Amino acid sequence: MNFTGAHILSISQFQRHDVEQIFSVADQMEPYALRKRVTRVLEGAILGNMFFEASTRTRVSFGSAFNLLGGEVRETAGFESSALVKGESLQDTARVLSGFSDVICMRHPQQGSVADFAAASRVPVMNGGDGANEHPTQALLDLYTIARELQAKGRTIDGLRIAMIGDLRHGRTVHSLSKLLSLFSNIQVTLISPKELALPDAIIDEMRAAGVTVSVSDELNNSIANVDIVYSTRIQEERFTSKAEADLYRGKFRLNQAIYTQYCEPNTVIMHPLPRDSRSDANELDCDLDNNPNLAIFRQTDNGLLIRMALFALVLDVVDKVDQFAHDVRWYNSRQQ
Ligand code: NCD
Repeated sequence: MNFTGAHILSISQFQRHDVEQIFSVADQMEPYALRKRVTRVLEGAILGNMFFEASTRTRVSFGSAFNLLGGEVRETAGFESSALVKGESLQDTARVLSGFSDVICMRHPQQGSVADFAAASRVPVMNGGDGANEHPTQALLDLYTIARELQAKGRTIDGLRIAMIGDLRHGRTVHSLSKLLSLFSNIQVTLISPKELALPDAIIDEMRAAGVTVSVSDELNNSIANVDIVYSTRIQEERFTSKAEADLYRGKFRLNQAIYTQYCEPNTVIMHPLPRDSRSDANELDCDLDNNPNLAIFRQTDNGLLIRMALFALVLDVVDKVDQFAHDVRWYNSRQQ
């Protein structure tokens, strides 16, 4: 695809070589993300960061990625503080904000809302999560992490065996990741969820049609025995009609060190899009895994910066200029100690 000026709304818009191009630009961003070098390539550019649903890492990651390329960030968070509570349409908001920004990132609770917004925007829009539908930049950073973890073992994405666990029905990160995996070869996916929270049939059908081997289970322990990656997810409480309904499923699939040691192959990589629900009635990814070197959750968040920097550089067409507008870091860098 031609990235220049493009909206990033769904994994469906990518082919394998597009994904490989994003990953190769992400590699190029590492010295800047690690503060070994500073670039001012996006000096003067403004990101409109609009989050109408709870977010910590995605919002700050988009903003930091833009800052790391030298751009400025303007932010609005929550419906209450926006004109949407006064009845303004998303289309009008899009028209107004795209007059102030060079690119817009958006999260919204309604499925399809970010695409509707993009249709009325005069600048590129990136989907930071539209309801239970998709979260394409998370899937890209997840797959980029998978590629790096496998590369360390002399492997590639092709041939990957992955178990996805939890609320697969509402989990937009899993929806996008499933679509992304379909672009690769010899992929085996095990879907572990309560039957009521199964991955939507349309996504399973799409994976199978693309040649992915899909198996389904509602039991954790034996289903994580022969995989390279365990990808755990949170029960998406905000998508249920009541907390009581979400409580029915909370804490059903808990992974801890004892279960990991007993059932997983050595060095199985543990991932989670975060936030993990660490309350005692959920505890889906136990803190006793925190010293396990195969826990990749914070490598995922670090990699998120690289992926989002790469997307900004591609969409704003500055990939070849990033190094040209760079200089040394002047401040104390604790990462290098
Ligand atoms: C995810 C999301 O918002 O879909 N979080 C994230 O962006 N990393 C997952 C979640 O909230 O459970």
